Amino acid sequence: MPMNIEKVFADTPGKKSCIHLNNCGSSLMPQSVLQSQIDHLELEAAIGGYEAANKRHDAIEAVYDSVARLINCHRDEVAVVENATVGWAMAFYAIPFQAGDRILTVEAEYASNYVAYLQIAKEKNVSVEVIPSDENGVVSLETLEDMIDERVRVISVTHVPTNSGLVNPVEEIGKIARKHNILYVVDACQSAGQMPLDVEKIQCDVLSATARKFLRGPRGVGFVYVRSSVIEQLHPPMIDLLSATWVSENEYVLRSDARRFENWENNYAAKLGMGACIDYALEIGLDNIQARINELADYLRNSLRKIKGVKLHTLNPNQCGIVTFSIAGVESADAVQTILQQGVNVSTSSPASTLLDATKNNLPVLVRSSVHYYNDHQEIDKFINIVRNIANS
Ligand SMILES: Cc1ncc(COP(=O)(O)O)c(C=O)c1O
Repeated sequence: MPMNIEKVFADTPGKKSCIHLNNCGSSLMPQSVLQSQIDHLELEAAIGGYEAANKRHDAIEAVYDSVARLINCHRDEVAVVENATVGWAMAFYAIPFQAGDRILTVEAEYASNYVAYLQIAKEKNVSVEVIPSDENGVVSLETLEDMIDERVRVISVTHVPTNSGLVNPVEEIGKIARKHNILYVVDACQSAGQMPLDVEKIQCDVLSATARKFLRGPRGVGFVYVRSSVIEQLHPPMIDLLSATWVSENEYVLRSDARRFENWENNYAAKLGMGACIDYALEIGLDNIQARINELADYLRNSLRKIKGVKLHTLNPNQCGIVTFSIAGVESADAVQTILQQGVNVSTSSPASTLLDATKNNLPVLVRSSVHYYNDHQEIDKFINIVRNIANS
């Protein structure tokens, strides 16, 4: 069924107050997602937090089914956590590294992941190696194949980086990881909600995401998928009385499902909000969402290209909703201030968030814009006008 764009607009209260092109930061929630949280907070205020969780037990459990439908996995392979970083780290730090192991990653890797590699490299005497990319930023699959040997412990990649519209070929990387039986971790924080994700097609063992970005959910909640066949080998770096049962003076038993990566206390309103935003996205259809985002992002990129002095980052043909650029002679932070003052939400992307990519491509701080399916051409035209004025001033 095609997307009902009038309904989408009507469902998005924030559209009345701003032009929101900061969807890769945190996007505007649909009314139903907001309401699901308000309802739960009101219930907590009325009857107590524990009692509210008991009362909404089935709805809270259904959040796992929603995540499972979103990425095509089993609900027992899902942990709901505070954010993408916590989910990713709980799985990554659980890998039993041994001295001499190799971690393979990508040039556009996210800072929080890369510093974790460096920490493990230091502590466990493993190496971190970067799979080279071509001039468009796309990972070289041939070189990856050549880099594989029995010491590669994990291939860990960011699907869509925080600083550009690049989409890494996660399915092709997955084929190589599976062929060589190597653990495969995918950071899908920026891709979840803007394109279909299927862990069977990607063939990953771990996949992390957050609710607030393209999924249009609340802040402070995310999830991690861990394939059932690898859960047993991954002992979380931190455990509590939910992830493990204390059975005797000297023993505990870890949960056998992915909830061994969770901890006991959490924000149930946010959790329900994440379920609601996933259901909302599934109802519209991730193919529909991706098609509209791509159309709007192409329109934005083509319009920006026509402005003298604007330089787009990432020229690769496979791009999504994140569009980053610089304006000759203007500091990006100043440009963003001017854009914000005129009612359009965008942000900056600093070199430190994707240091390898930024260093290789000599990137300054960039203006970061990102479209979602609830944006429209008029909003983009207004943004383009502002950028044109800044570039010409
Ligand atoms: C590629 C990527 N991975 C991970 C994260 C971290 O997500 P969270 O803040 O939910 O932990 C971000 C956030 O911007 C991101 O862009």
